[in-house]
Amino acid sequence: MSNTGLLAYVCFLLAGCFCCSRAMPTKVSQKAVNDRPVIGILTQLVSDEAMKPFGRTYIPSSYVKYIESGGSRVMPIRLTLTTAEYEDIFRKINGLIFIGGAADLETSDFARVAKIFFKLAETANDAGDFFPIWGTCMGMQLLTVLVAGQNLLTKTTAENVAMPLNLTTEAGSSRMFEGFPSELMKALTHKPLTGNFHHYGVEVKNFQENENLQSFFSILSTNVAENGAHFVSTIEGKRYPFYGVQWHPEVNRFQWDSRLNFPHSRQAVQLSSLLAEFFSNEGRRSLHRFDNPEEEASSLIYNYTPVYAANFTGYEQLYFF
Ligand SMILES: *[C@@H]1O[C@H](CO)[C@@H](O)[C@H](O)[C@H]1NC(C)=O
Ligand SMILES: *[C@@H]1O[C@H](CO)[C@@H](O)[C@H](O)[C@H]1NC(C)=O
Repeated sequence: MSNTGLLAYVCFLLAGCFCCSRAMPTKVSQKAVNDRPVIGILTQLVSDEAMKPFGRTYIPSSYVKYIESGGSRVMPIRLTLTTAEYEDIFRKINGLIFIGGAADLETSDFARVAKIFFKLAETANDAGDFFPIWGTCMGMQLLTVLVAGQNLLTKTTAENVAMPLNLTTEAGSSRMFEGFPSELMKALTHKPLTGNFHHYGVEVKNFQENENLQSFFSILSTNVAENGAHFVSTIEGKRYPFYGVQWHPEVNRFQWDSRLNFPHSRQAVQLSSLLAEFFSNEGRRSLHRFDNPEEEASSLIYNYTPVYAANFTGYEQLYFF
């Protein structure tokens, strides 16, 4: 579109607005919506030897594409900043994802930074400043450690296996699955739509016996591990917009290594799309913003180029920082 064309379009919109506001003098109160959400992703420390030549920290592109596919933009967040710098970032982003990986959930930089954001998000939500957090795999495990105040993980190996979910009755009235087509909800309970790549998890019994976890999160699904342990696989905050999945919704559309059991069926893809859209919609409810467009532009993932990684990792592409 040419500049003049764009200008004409903007003018037309403004004219339309003035016209409407005159025709409807009563002010309609409605929830403010932010249609340009930015979701932060904490980087992960590189531990894989093959990845070390490229950088110290990374984010798999699959998570970035997943967030972008829901209608949000991504800001990578390094693990080396000061608390003041994280507080500043918090005022600018509209949601946060704790991704999968391998880090100590109590002593690592990842855990330290996640805790800072978690506390900020709790306080903000308490004050009516909506701020969502999503944890995937290790990210969900981390959420349970932050809420429980202790590490309740035990061996619940489900490594490289796609499974259906044993949905609880709470799933039916959850925010996460609200609006899912009933055909998909049914498929979720008997088709292997969720990719699992983990050795640890929180067993249902341990979760229910922990007062903090039990009062903070609703359990939306459980699964059975290779060793027979029943583990919690999907959670949703009762009062807070905090969500966790022990499985990996992003792989369904953005990872393809044929040695790995990534679900790619029509419904697996639909599940991944709907959850990405769900979390972006949560982000739209946050009115945090950058101080100016230049600061926003320089903070986004678009400043980085992913590296082709399918010939030395199970990922297709990785961002290094
Ligand atoms: C769902 O729960 C049943 C009963 O506990 C169990 O036999 C089954 O293996 C579980 N399904 C999955 C996918 O974990
Ligand atoms: C992977 O492929 C790229 C080219 O696409 C190549 O430059 C690189 O050396 C390869 N890495 C390995 C470990 O084979």
